[in-house]
Amino acid sequence: MSAVYLLLLLLLPLVSAQTFHWGGCPAPEVQPDFNLSQYLGLWYEIEKLPAFFERGTCIEANYTLNGDGTVRVLNSQLEDGEVNVAEGTAVVLSQTEPAKLGVRFSLFSPRGPYWVLSTDYTNYSVVYSCTGFLSVFHVDFAWILSRSRSLPQQTVAQAKDLMTRQNIEVCKMMATNQTGCWDN
Ligand SMILES: *[C@@H]1O[C@H](CO)[C@@H](O)[C@H](O)[C@H]1NC(C)=O
Ligand SMILES: *[C@@H]1O[C@H](CO)[C@@H](O)[C@H](O)[C@H]1NC(C)=O
Ligand SMILES: *[C@@H]1O[C@H](CO)[C@@H](O)[C@H](O)[C@H]1NC(C)=O
Ligand SMILES: *[C@@H]1O[C@H](CO)[C@@H](O)[C@H](O)[C@H]1NC(C)=O
Repeated sequence: MSAVYLLLLLLLPLVSAQTFHWGGCPAPEVQPDFNLSQYLGLWYEIEKLPAFFERGTCIEANYTLNGDGTVRVLNSQLEDGEVNVAEGTAVVLSQTEPAKLGVRFSLFSPRGPYWVLSTDYTNYSVVYSCTGFLSVFHVDFAWILSRSRSLPQQTVAQAKDLMTRQNIEVCKMMATNQTGCWDN
């Protein structure tokens, strides 16, 4: 176990800015018959589990298809009066489970999971990302996304219920500020 504690100590500065849990990742069900082309386009972040790389406001993601069938990911946020953009690439990892994508923002970083748990394509999406370390602990991210900068409270509550039923802890989820953006 000592190696695990050492690993934990080394990772602590990283994981402290996100959500840490003991045990392995939950194994949530994902959106059946996921259709990537209907999912493309612009999504606004409504709520999330805290993530070190997302501190700003007006957070949105624009998904477009690359020529090779991968997905171009453009994440934008407003931070200290400036729009910061991060570009990445997402791929469907297995055609048998198309709702499970992997995304990375640098050629040199491993692909992080991007699992679409539930979406109706035109209003909301519930996205989950979990990385386990030897089943000893895991860190996770979760996002509730919307096609507009706001989402009815009822839809947000339903998204959280869905995650809770899949053993995902939502109590630390925080609303993203979508006011004072470049278009509102
Ligand atoms: C996905 O949706 C597009 C656009 O609505 C449609 O043309 C396509 O047939 C769908 N793909 C599958 C596999 O259902
Ligand atoms: C999304 O990205 C595509 C491709 O770069 C671009 O044409 C489109 O205008 C973007 N949409 C928004 C709303 O930024
Ligand atoms: C979902 O979005 C569609 C298209 O924008 C809209 O017509 C419909 O009313 C929305 N449904 C809900 C439940 O918000
Ligand atoms: C959201 O951001 C805007 C613009 O930066 C700011 O004026 C407003 O106070 C913020 N709202 C909240 C609830 O933090």
